[in-house]
Amino acid sequence: MYKVLVSDPISDMGLQQLTDASDVEVVKNTGLSEDELVAIIGQFDALLVRSQTKVTRRIMEAGTNLKVIGRAGVGVDNIDLEAATSLGIVVINAPDGNTITTCEHAFAMMMALARHIPQAYMKTVTGEWDRKSFVGVELRNKTFGVLGLGRIGTEVAKRAIAFGMNVLGYDPFMTEDRAEKLGIKLASVDEIVRNADFMTVHTPLTKETHHMIAKPQFEVMKKGMRIVNCARGGIIDELALVEAIDEGIVAGAAFDVFEHEPPNPDHPFLKHPKIIVTPHLGASTIEAQENVAIDVSEQVINILRNEPFKNA
Ligand code: NAD
Ligand code: MLT
Repeated sequence: MYKVLVSDPISDMGLQQLTDASDVEVVKNTGLSEDELVAIIGQFDALLVRSQTKVTRRIMEAGTNLKVIGRAGVGVDNIDLEAATSLGIVVINAPDGNTITTCEHAFAMMMALARHIPQAYMKTVTGEWDRKSFVGVELRNKTFGVLGLGRIGTEVAKRAIAFGMNVLGYDPFMTEDRAEKLGIKLASVDEIVRNADFMTVHTPLTKETHHMIAKPQFEVMKKGMRIVNCARGGIIDELALVEAIDEGIVAGAAFDVFEHEPPNPDHPFLKHPKIIVTPHLGASTIEAQENVAIDVSEQVINILRNEPFKNA
């Protein structure tokens, strides 16, 4: 019997393949501390996480039976990949299941930002009828910079084109030919920062992308830029962004992700009138959560049974 620990909330429907398998026992135990995980992980053959569980070397070393860690989502930055490799533990993710959901969230954030929807809602429900404070901007004919033209970035770009935006894109792995077919004009980060009216990031968080947008980029940025981050906290320097808004360089920002999650209650984003936030909801739809759970369940079973699996 293989024992699988699910340590973050993951769709029950999506886990059905695992729970129905006669050779698998699924244990759901969420919200555990590192010490609590270390104490129990030795009993398990597989660990399934979303983004809350930080899978450290200590946890993996205590997981003496651990063969596979499944990430029900895209980013594996909450898993110490170096430790997993050195300990022979396979790490798999679900790269496709939440693409559209996250793209739609990023687009919704951009529209909410352009039209001040959260701020207007907050005032209207208090009984105030304020139409003067919330004059927005159209997306049509605006220049839109997309950093990271992978699964989510290209879907966001397609929707932006449908809204009449001119899309500039940057991704070291995107070819001119494919960009042209998608209707995206390739540009450098510097060109995007200097010319875009709206900008969104869809890269992983790596050493190269950490603070990819920081003080030097804000210093040359087109005045009035609006910025969306539904990828990972840390790609955009949070404090430099607040400074750029307060200096009138950036008109507003919409963030789904933070450098440290959840952010401290005194985080400057949380009370800033020009910054709108959501609590890492990019992938939170019924469809996406089912998709990613189905994908990881299938792969985890294959790995446990020593059958072929695809590793993105
Ligand atoms: P993806 O792997 O399909 O695309 C990422 C793209 O970033 C790739 O095309 C890659 O070439 C590009 N890239 C890498 N380094 C770069 C750099 N230095 N500059 C520019 N581009 C670079 O991944 P995806 O599915 O599109 O996801 C993108 C990001 O969104 C990931 O960080 C993922 O974790 C995050 N995400 C967040 C949520 C959420 O809930 N907010 C949900 C899903 C994904
Ligand atoms: C991801 O990388 O897939 C996202 O962080 C979504 C999530 O796990 O909630």
